[in-house]
Amino acid sequence: MALPRVRSADAAGIAAGAACLKAGGLVAFPTETVYGLGADATDDRAVARIYAAKGRPTFNPLIVHGPAVEALRSLVIWDARAEAVAAAFWPGPLTLVLPRAADCPVSPLASAGLETLALRVPSHPVARALLEAAGLPVAAPSANRSNALSPTEAAHVVASLGGAVDLVLDGGPCAVGLESTVVDLSGAVPLLLREGGLPREVLRQRLPDLASPAAGAAIKSPGMLAKHYAPDCPLRLNARDVLPGEALLAFGPDAPAAEIVLNLSEAGDPVEAAANLFRHLHALNERRPAGIAVMPIPEAGLGRAINDRLRRAAA
Ligand code: TXA
Ligand code: MG
Repeated sequence: MALPRVRSADAAGIAAGAACLKAGGLVAFPTETVYGLGADATDDRAVARIYAAKGRPTFNPLIVHGPAVEALRSLVIWDARAEAVAAAFWPGPLTLVLPRAADCPVSPLASAGLETLALRVPSHPVARALLEAAGLPVAAPSANRSNALSPTEAAHVVASLGGAVDLVLDGGPCAVGLESTVVDLSGAVPLLLREGGLPREVLRQRLPDLASPAAGAAIKSPGMLAKHYAPDCPLRLNARDVLPGEALLAFGPDAPAAEIVLNLSEAGDPVEAAANLFRHLHALNERRPAGIAVMPIPEAGLGRAINDRLRRAAA
């Protein structure tokens, strides 16, 4: 497998990344959630290269990133509710889905042909500097092969995508470690399409009528298909013991003994556990166990998003 160019995310690296994006290239860059695989969202060919590099089905739309709300508003039909939510939570791990503006310059492929567009302002300083320098809306899914584990370190990107990426900016591990929370603001009632780095409880403070999409409704977020974020071996959830051949993904101070074990958070802290989730899954996966036993994680705060990813990985 060919290898991409990997550079440290210093000023020169960021300038090279911006130039690469402007030239239609693919640049992997750190965000506070996970590494993104960025391309000029207004360039059909560049967006098509994202789908090809990931092996991603073209019915699954991408998130468009900007350095600040000012850079994104005109792409969609923006309203007072979006303004209030963006003011409260951007920059940060939240994605807003809104109707595309009539003259939206973003490639329809980035929206997978939908009438809506997903937008996010990340808080990571490297992401913001890169987006500022590029001066373009940047489409960026997580920088991994479709359905594989999300990358929270530059090395994960290289291992998953190899030479399909032109440049990887190495900004160290991602602090949040879970993808953004996705909220659909295109209808009367705000819908939580994906649990993520911004806990539902916090979002509800600004969107008290936040609802879940009705079961059986058309899939609103095609990326939320049941199987996703999967390692190569089976996952066994809510495990309190370890079977022969299994590795253990532990949580909390009372982990059973196991030959191969990584603890998401010995203190039982869901924020620490989120930051470690994909890194530990990558590391356990590399040991090629027969399976991974996962201890129970409380269903509150970031624990909800962690359990969502674990259920999909186990599906
Ligand atoms: O934290 C994140 O969100 C990371 C970083 C790089 O920003 N990006 C990320 O992108 O996780 P991706 O492509 O792996 O996930 C995007 C999710 C998918 O579930 C997709 O279906 C949904 O957002 N999505 C994108 N556009 C949408 C739209 N117009 N309507 C509904 N869902 C949409
Ligand atoms: Mg993804």
